[in-house]
Amino acid sequence: MATINDNYLKLKAGYLFPEIARRVNSFIEANPDAKIIKLGIGDVTEPLPEACRTAMVKAVEEMGARSTFKGYGPEQGYGWLREKIAQQDFQARGCEIDASEIFISDGSKCDTGNILDIFGKNNIIAVTDPVYPVYVDTNVMAGHTGSANDRGEFDGLVYLPITAENNFTAEIPSQKVDLIYLCFPNNPTGATASKEHLKAWVDYAKANGAIILFDAAYEAFITDSNLPHSIYEIDGARDCAIEFRSFSKNAGFTGTRCALTVVPKTLIAKASDGSDVELWKLWNRRQSTKFNGVSYIVQRGAEAVYSEEGQAQVRALVDFYMENARIICEQLKAAGLSVYGGVNAPYVWVKTPQGLSSWDFFDKLLQTCNVVGTPGSGFGAAGEGYFRISAFNSRENVNEAMKRITEKFKA
Ligand code: MLT
Repeated sequence: MATINDNYLKLKAGYLFPEIARRVNSFIEANPDAKIIKLGIGDVTEPLPEACRTAMVKAVEEMGARSTFKGYGPEQGYGWLREKIAQQDFQARGCEIDASEIFISDGSKCDTGNILDIFGKNNIIAVTDPVYPVYVDTNVMAGHTGSANDRGEFDGLVYLPITAENNFTAEIPSQKVDLIYLCFPNNPTGATASKEHLKAWVDYAKANGAIILFDAAYEAFITDSNLPHSIYEIDGARDCAIEFRSFSKNAGFTGTRCALTVVPKTLIAKASDGSDVELWKLWNRRQSTKFNGVSYIVQRGAEAVYSEEGQAQVRALVDFYMENARIICEQLKAAGLSVYGGVNAPYVWVKTPQGLSSWDFFDKLLQTCNVVGTPGSGFGAAGEGYFRISAFNSRENVNEAMKRITEKFKA
């Protein structure tokens, strides 16, 4: 009889967002006329930028003629896209990142999970609490943890609480850890990291031979010009950090799928015989073996983000969602709720009112306002008593949702 990977049995029954969808669907079944507004999962609603669509249509045409048809592309992504990313996202900000260090993929969710393929089993792994659940669940699946306790914390992981008291930025741990997941602008709290904060992490990682897994999927939403967009803006980060980025949220590619991971060639980790190994070589080997690249059509669409029109259209999209975030913050504050984030990130992190638990507030909002958000406790034990509201929706829906919530909760 075949056997399973028992680590899956340690996981909570469902991944957070499908679990929310399950509850919403059963509510809709019982209340088919309810006009539900979804501000839960951070999925974009506005159409793809015209520049991307035009580039993709042209690419489809190319696929229709033998002379321009493309079969397998490079597993790492096409050079023309990697060059533009290197120049415009990194070198223009003073980051020493070469195109060959950029790997195009179909998503940051996949890459933040897949990256574990190249790391050993015995690393001590630190995550913030609350945290994007993918970082935790993929470590559980890979057998890097024991079982979860009553609070849902897995034995073997180091949890770094992020709370209003520390501005939702984790303290540097006093113990030694080997892999650290950081996400800025933060999902779920919307918090940001200053250069000084990231410098402290880079110094810690270099002193301890640790690797930072830096998720910058929301960097385009930074409005404060003093904040770093990439960890490579910090001296020394090339020697201790992998960065993940995505076209999902800035250019609306959640359904189209395109992202990138930066693995500098200067990143070294130890083999079990004590020798030094370049992580770039391992990731390149991993991708060449398990991945066949993102489609030519989609990569042409992503390339268009870097054209003049593409840049302006992406900026307009980001500004649109950030105006939603501003409205959400303003309205919830006016209703007397404590809100965080929403200024440099498309997520607003709300303290639940009336001492409600995160899931109780979720149910109340669903039942009384027909609005869906994400319970903070779904992101970790320290998220209990908080609730995440996503700014990804139409203006009409955001205004309507805020009207319903403020009417219901105004003190
Ligand atoms: C979220 O809502 O946290 C995001 O949609 C997650 C993701 O991008 O995978």
